Amino acid sequence: MSITREEELTGMKKASEAVACTLKEMRNYAQPGITTKQLDRFGAKILSDFGARSAPYLAYGFPGYTCISVNHEFCHGIPSDYRILKEGDLINIDVSAELNGFWSDNGGSFVLGEDINQHQKLIDASKHILYKAISNIKASIRISDIGFLMETEAKKRGYKVIKNLTGHGVGRSLHEEPGDIANYKDRFNRTRFRKSTVVAIETFISTTSTYADTLEDGWTMVGNKGGFMAQHEHTIVVTEGAPLILTEMNGIWN
Ligand code: CO
Ligand code: CO
Repeated sequence: MSITREEELTGMKKASEAVACTLKEMRNYAQPGITTKQLDRFGAKILSDFGARSAPYLAYGFPGYTCISVNHEFCHGIPSDYRILKEGDLINIDVSAELNGFWSDNGGSFVLGEDINQHQKLIDASKHILYKAISNIKASIRISDIGFLMETEAKKRGYKVIKNLTGHGVGRSLHEEPGDIANYKDRFNRTRFRKSTVVAIETFISTTSTYADTLEDGWTMVGNKGGFMAQHEHTIVVTEGAPLILTEMNGIWN
């Protein structure tokens, strides 16, 4: 969406506070021994306390309220009673929701407890790339130039990017104009960021794969060549200077 009135900015700030707070609290709640279903229920309660409704549940009939992906799962992991979290797991939580007609989206990968499987370097690369991408976004910058920057930064650190997962416009629905915001230079995309547009910027940084495939459950995505992936996502408002980061309080940069 493009923000034209003060009420729209207020609405986006509230929806963003709901998803950012839920993500932050879920991350704090995650600990070895609990299931991803327990973690999801905890997040669902926070969303409902804000009066917010889960976006994947509402928009796509996703079998859960938040997406929780563990280790080889890249994204859209289904909360499960059988998935018990362990020390050293690479966990991705993605929380998106609707509140009073406004939609916001954020996510982040982290290591649970001690980094016994050495995932921190991948996570730090993803965080850094999101920071660098957002720092370079302003009105009239080409979307493909940000994609180029993200892929270049990933390569510099010895990583790849996933080509079929993207950031997106957000605000009045979960996915909207200006369309896909790829992690590579999509030379067919000549669109530029415009002032006051709300977008969800997300990284998809991977160790070995360049595409994500859907498993037989119809939701969970894994790498076409396996390995691991880290994702970090903020919902922002484009300006003529530094973007306004609506989900900043999720703490994914800390
Ligand atoms: Co998103
Ligand atoms: Co998301």
